[in-house]
Amino acid sequence: MGKKAREIVGLDLKELISDLDRAYCDEWLAYYAWWYMARAVEGQGYEDMQEFLDKIAKDEIEHAAELAERIIELGGLPTNVPGNLAKGANAPYPGVMRNLSDYKEIIKIVTTAEAGAIEVYNKLAKKTFGKDHDTYNLVCHILGEEIGHEEMFENLVEKK
Ligand SMILES: [Fe+2]
Ligand SMILES: [Fe+2]
Repeated sequence: MGKKAREIVGLDLKELISDLDRAYCDEWLAYYAWWYMARAVEGQGYEDMQEFLDKIAKDEIEHAAELAERIIELGGLPTNVPGNLAKGANAPYPGVMRNLSDYKEIIKIVTTAEAGAIEVYNKLAKKTFGKDHDTYNLVCHILGEEIGHEEMFENLVEKK
C-alpha cells in the first residue's frame, strides 16, 4: 500500500492495525478450536457435526488470512508467534467440549464465540465506515460469515 493510499485512511493507523490484529488472533483461536473439535467429535451422526465444524474452521482460517493481508497492506505485521495468539485476542480461547459426544456443549461453545465475533466485526464496521473503505468491505464480508456461523449452529438446537 502506497503513501497516498495510507493517507486516505481517516483513522489512526496504529490503532486500526492493533484492532485488526486482535481479530486476527481471535480467528486463529476459533480455527484451532473448531478444527480440534471436528477431529475429536464422537457419537451418533458425528459425521454431520464434523462437517459443520470443518466448514466454519475453513472460514475462520480464511478470515485470518484476509486480516493478515490487510494488516500488512496497512504497514503492520500480524502476531507472528503462536504463543502470543491467546494473549493478543479479544476473547479467551473458546475451548473444546469435555465430553466428545456432547453436541449441546459444542453448540454452546460455538454460538458463544460466534456471538463475540459478531460484536467485534460490528464494532469494526462502525469504526471504519466512511473512513477506510477497504477495511470496511473486509470486515462486513467477515461479519456476514460470522452471522452465518451463529445461525448454522443455533439451528442445530432442537426447536421446542
Ligand atoms: Fe471468523
Ligand atoms: Fe465464525
